[in-house]
Amino acid sequence: PKAPARPSNINVAWKMLREEAMSCTRCHLYQDATQTVFGEGPLDARLALIGEQPGDQEDIAGRPFVGPAGQLLDRALEEARIDRGSIYVTNAVKHFKHERRGKRRIHQSPDTPEIKACRWWLDRELDLLRPRIVVALGVTAARAMLGKAVTISRTRGTPISMENGMEGWVTVHPSFLLRLPDERRREAERARFVDELRYIGERVK
Ligand code: URA
Repeated sequence: PKAPARPSNINVAWKMLREEAMSCTRCHLYQDATQTVFGEGPLDARLALIGEQPGDQEDIAGRPFVGPAGQLLDRALEEARIDRGSIYVTNAVKHFKHERRGKRRIHQSPDTPEIKACRWWLDRELDLLRPRIVVALGVTAARAMLGKAVTISRTRGTPISMENGMEGWVTVHPSFLLRLPDERRREAERARFVDELRYIGERVK
């Protein structure tokens, strides 16, 4: 199906949406987080990436993918010849879910009700921007993007025609790559991730 055009007041609409998300109480996660971390990037981006949720550094900076996973993502995008400044980057869940251990804040994965509650924002972001391609990084993003639980291994590597008319892709989350203990496997998986991004990047050029 042909995607409907973006609204002409997209800048205002997006700013209002972001502003509204700043005081979101749709689930309890706002209580322990510093702030809502909304998506960022050009509103006419043809490619959008969805992560899981802000991490410790993103929660403080108020921007998606600025910590270690973001650095890995930046390098992968560079190698894939995708300018991060030309794409929209957001998260499935907009507040940092964590547990405190002393001074440290330990990441916790969002659960299904939290992902569902936050999908309200993601759907609105995508409806406004109408990117041609949306890439889900990891299972949480895939669940939010597709509205159902999927496995990475079964969904990876083929485009998915979504109900909203966009083309969806599912791949690994950069944190998965960071956590792989074996260096050779890590490098092989990272190379596969870069190859996927490069392929997807060519499709929006
Ligand atoms: N991991 C994510 O999924 N998103 C971020 O913004 C940072 C780390």
